[in-house]
Amino acid sequence: VKPYLYVTRKLPEEIIRPFRRQFDIQMWLYEEKPINREALERETKHADAILTMLSDQIDRSLLEQAENLKIIANLAVGYDNIDLSAAKDRGITVSNTPDVLTETTADLTFALLMATARRIVEAARFIEQGSWNNWAPFLMAGKDVHHKTLGIVGMGRIGEALARRARGFSMDVLYHNRSRHLQAEESLGVHYAEFESLLEQADYVVCLAPLTEETKHMFDKEAFSRMKKSAFFINASRGKNVDEKALYHALINEEIAGAGLDVFEDEPIDSSHPLLALQQVTCLPHIGSATIETRNRMIELCLENIALVLSGKKAKTLVI
Ligand code: GLV
Ligand code: GLV
Repeated sequence: VKPYLYVTRKLPEEIIRPFRRQFDIQMWLYEEKPINREALERETKHADAILTMLSDQIDRSLLEQAENLKIIANLAVGYDNIDLSAAKDRGITVSNTPDVLTETTADLTFALLMATARRIVEAARFIEQGSWNNWAPFLMAGKDVHHKTLGIVGMGRIGEALARRARGFSMDVLYHNRSRHLQAEESLGVHYAEFESLLEQADYVVCLAPLTEETKHMFDKEAFSRMKKSAFFINASRGKNVDEKALYHALINEEIAGAGLDVFEDEPIDSSHPLLALQQVTCLPHIGSATIETRNRMIELCLENIALVLSGKKAKTLVI
């Protein structure tokens, strides 16, 4: 019998099909609706492999029921939705999708920064609402990006790709990270800074740090109060790195100038979310790596990792 792979979202059949020779593959019925807990438990209990989304909570109680599970292939570079120690205890491999999404996510992050600084979304909405009656010198006037200081918190692959883009805009780039990246300092001309010092100097503070116990709510009241009043905060990593209430207060009290957010503490958010009411905030629905090319590559990489692990080999992009 073929190993059983369960995919927790409906994915394009063209990408899945070649793997049906090797595996018995079942998928959740919907592309846009997440799997419910009951179905996730039922499938995880018997599957040899699961291909999961960042919106699935793969916790200890779920993994304790798994009888045959050998790999969890997460369709994301982040894996904070998976209890790694529970997976480790049961000898289950966890893989993610780094590298294939690096440039795409850096593009979105820079686009969000630009959109926020130049009020792109607000300006488009303005014209759609029929409000453009006259040209005016300061109509939708934003802030410059070129020659400003970018502060990257979380200098992984995506951070480095963002720094390369920023250099093209003649920006000065500071970064903060657990460990220093001397090679990036040399090749990209970026400078290491302590977290507090980066916050005090940057015109654009961009969070690209993974969500861990150490990074959770690292952007709190204290952090926002250190930022310049003219500075913008951009988050393209995980919403829980930010104390959203503190961010909201920093914005309404004009302690910072604006924010661009691709991620939120509790996703999805609905139209009643207080941050959406602020004109200086640009919100996106967690689309950092969302291009057709990259999503296809991410799915393929998950399937390759599953094929490797189920044939006794090591995953290409192993978390544990
Ligand atoms: C998306 O947020 C990812 O982690 O890939
Ligand atoms: C994050 O994990 C990155 O690749 O930057």
